[in-house]
Amino acid sequence: MKIDILRHNSMSWDNEVEQKTEWTVPATCEQIEESRKGNIQIKITPVKSVPQEWIGNVSGKKILCLASGGGQQGPVLSAAGAEVTVLDNSPRQLQQDMETAERENLKIKTVLGDMRNLEIFSSESFNMIINPASIHFIEDVQPVWSECSRVLLKGGKLLTGAVNPLIYIFDYSDLQNRNKLIKYSIPHSDIDTFTDRQKKNYIKNKIPFEFGHSLEDVIKGQIDFGFSINGFYEDNNGGTSELDEYINTYYALLAVKN
Ligand SMILES: C[S@@+](CC[C@H](N)C(=O)[O-])C[C@H]1O[C@@H](n2cnc3c(N)ncnc32)[C@H](O)[C@@H]1O
Repeated sequence: MKIDILRHNSMSWDNEVEQKTEWTVPATCEQIEESRKGNIQIKITPVKSVPQEWIGNVSGKKILCLASGGGQQGPVLSAAGAEVTVLDNSPRQLQQDMETAERENLKIKTVLGDMRNLEIFSSESFNMIINPASIHFIEDVQPVWSECSRVLLKGGKLLTGAVNPLIYIFDYSDLQNRNKLIKYSIPHSDIDTFTDRQKKNYIKNKIPFEFGHSLEDVIKGQIDFGFSINGFYEDNNGGTSELDEYINTYYALLAVKN
C-alpha cells in the first residue's frame, strides 16, 4: 500500500487543529505580554519550559521555528524581539501563527515546507533553531541535522524536543487500553509495521503516521553534523500517557554548532 506520508501528515495536522489538540493551541495574550517583558516561556516537550539560559537574549536574533507551527514558540519569541520564521508542513498550523501574530501585532514569516529541506534559506542565516517534538513524524532525521547545521551560524543553537524511542516498542492503541505488550523494535516505522487495516484506519481518521528514532540517530546524528551537546533534560507527558508513571517519555537537547 503506497502512502504519501508528507501529504497525509499535513492533512492530519490540519485535522489536529480542527480538533484543537494539545500541540495546536496558540500562545495566550498573557504569555505574549510576559514575553514582551523578557519572560520567555516556550516548550519543546509537553510540560517543562525551556530553561531561560538556553534561549538567552533573543532581541534582533534570527530564529527558525522548525516544524513548529501552531502559534506557540513563534509568536512568543517574536514578542521578545526576535526575527522569526516558522516552517511547518501543515497550512492550518501556520495559519495559527499568522492569526496570533495579527492578534498581537507581531511580524512573523511563515513557510509551508518539509523540515528536511531548507533550501529556500541561505547557509549560516539563523542564530537559533527551535524544533519542538516533531521529528517522529518523518522517516529519516539525518537530513534535518544536515540542513540545520548548514543554515545555522557558527555558535548558533539548535533546541530539539524529542520522544524517547522506548514508547514505540508498544502499540499506541494497546497502551490506551493499559496493555503494555512489547510489539515493535527500534527504529520504528508505523508504515513498515502496520497492517493495511491499521493504515487505512489512520488514513480515514487523519491520524499522523509516526516513526521512533534511535537515540543514536538523534544525538549522535547531531554530533556527526558538527554540533556539541551542551544541555539536556527529560520530561513526561503531563500524566496523560500510560507510561508516565514508569519513565519520562520526552527529552530535550541543546546543541551548539561548532
Ligand atoms: C507536535 S507538533 C509541534 C508544534 C507546535 N508548535 C508545538 O510545539 O506545540 C508537530 C508539528 O510538526 C509538523 N510537521 C510534521 N511533519 C513535518 C515535516 N515533514 N516538515 C515540517 N513540519 C512537519 C506538524 O505539522 C506539527 O505542526
